[in-house]
Amino acid sequence: MSNIHEFDVVVVGGGGAGLMAAWYASKSVRTAVISKLYPIRSHTGAAQGGIGAALGNYEEDHPEWHTFDTIKGSDYLGDQDAISFMCEEAVQAVYDLEHMGLPFNRTPEGRIAQRPFGGHTNNASGKPVRRSCYAADRTGHMILQTLYQQCIKNKNIFFDEYQVMDLLIVDGAVAGVVAVEMATGELHTFRSKAVIFATGGHGRIWEITSNAYAYTGDGPAILARRGIPMEDMEFFQFHPTGIYKLGILITEAVRGEGGILFNNKGERFMEKYAPRIKDLASRDVVSRAMYLETRAGNDVNGQRFFNLDVRPETVNKYAEIDGRTRPDGSAYQVTAAEIMSKIPDIADFCLTYLGVDPTKQPIPVQPTAHYAMGGIPTNKYGQVVIDEKNTVLPGLYAAGECACVSVHGANRLGTNSLVDLVVFGKHAGINAAEFAKGADLKPLPEDPTGEVMRQIEALHAGSGKERAAALGKEMRVEMFDHVGVFRTDEGLQHAVAKVQELRERFKQVRVADSGKVFNMEMLQTWELGNMLDLALVTAQSALARTESRGAHARDDFPQRDDATWLKHTLAWLDGEQVRLGYKPVVVTQYQPKERTY
Ligand code: FUM
Repeated sequence: MSNIHEFDVVVVGGGGAGLMAAWYASKSVRTAVISKLYPIRSHTGAAQGGIGAALGNYEEDHPEWHTFDTIKGSDYLGDQDAISFMCEEAVQAVYDLEHMGLPFNRTPEGRIAQRPFGGHTNNASGKPVRRSCYAADRTGHMILQTLYQQCIKNKNIFFDEYQVMDLLIVDGAVAGVVAVEMATGELHTFRSKAVIFATGGHGRIWEITSNAYAYTGDGPAILARRGIPMEDMEFFQFHPTGIYKLGILITEAVRGEGGILFNNKGERFMEKYAPRIKDLASRDVVSRAMYLETRAGNDVNGQRFFNLDVRPETVNKYAEIDGRTRPDGSAYQVTAAEIMSKIPDIADFCLTYLGVDPTKQPIPVQPTAHYAMGGIPTNKYGQVVIDEKNTVLPGLYAAGECACVSVHGANRLGTNSLVDLVVFGKHAGINAAEFAKGADLKPLPEDPTGEVMRQIEALHAGSGKERAAALGKEMRVEMFDHVGVFRTDEGLQHAVAKVQELRERFKQVRVADSGKVFNMEMLQTWELGNMLDLALVTAQSALARTESRGAHARDDFPQRDDATWLKHTLAWLDGEQVRLGYKPVVVTQYQPKERTY
């Protein structure tokens, strides 16, 4: 057998979580990163507005407040032990990034600058607190650059533009992964003692999304096909402010800097839905408000969008109304230049895609599929757990958006994606390295690349009656219409049936390109198969959950039902069917309460 590589730890994915994991693992064991993209092109770069940590650089703040806000934001579905761990660790994680060279914005005294973000509050007053540590509106991008440099320094070995297609499990433990080298089409087997999946999310399942084209859920789909359940897949976040029709993210930092959402009557409608923190309510609350305003006929021009206004005159007027001040107590009055300096990339996107200068005109926005709260079940050590009893699969780890620890529960707070990936990326890296030091390489299965060969052959063997692009479009529209911000039994039944139909029709797709060099037709068709698998798991999990909680809003079951549903969903993909199970939520000190903002 050719193309066999051996490592102690293999990290699948070169985004923030993968690089963090690799950096820590490579301090003590031989580590490789396998990524379908060049790492600095990873989707972490799209996390714009900041990373949350209770540094208290402008005003009083505490990790306990961050913990409570995250639990409340999760609509009490997050595991409280893991959330507390993450919020405590966040502070040191930000300082670690600073010491690695991350160019954060600064306060006049030279400390890391912080801005308000949705759902982050002073727990005493209930008012927004400045907790998001930022580098303009390029925080995720700066994290990628910083971590990549550190990984190169640590002599991590990178296999860029390699697509991992299978996980090898021998006698119930990890033996490695199989990947295709895009440039040659050759298969490579990576033997390793531990594997960390850090492959990101799957927002490309939905029609309007902030997610990059690469966000096709490959890691979770590979694991689901290997019998590992997916946790809480019904909870998918819709970010309220995507560019109208395109979905490209307009960071919540625009509202953090004072931007206001308006409906067609020029009303600041969030006053009705979140009287205390208004435009800075949690994302599920704001996205739902936009849908409710649309139902009431208050969307702009009847076209399902709203105006996000960050013109200085608007920001200044509402800052005065809200009594917002600067940290030194002076009035919060901004200039166009100041706004431009805080959100330069956003200003650029608006000009490029809309021809709009946000300091002179409002930005048309609509909710956009943004973030997977659910995914591969893990504990706070990054270990993948495979059943209701949290049994660990030896050698298998996951971190970042593809994982479900669960620290986001039913709804993630903005900035906590970056916290999650640095904190749990770090611990997955450390723990995988420790595991590898005490483990041997497992013998490879007899035909390690057999399953991948079978999948590739199947993609070339369809009748050709169906086209992958058309199936993908149908999936995205179906998921947006029926598994979006609001859901019903009828819509979800429709979605399950439709996705089942699409999976059946997918078998008729034929990849026509038989070439080996950068066969993107083959790879993108394979990615569509991954998305269809996850779409089914998502719709089925959502259909079963007959309550409304966080990002899962059921028109037919509008109340949260803690008596029945304060539990995590586990969904196993059994061939054509999905089997569901449940496990308890970890509640430590905060009993579930009604959420108000
Ligand atoms: O709005 C944003 O800048 C997105 C950040 C996040 O998803 O955490």
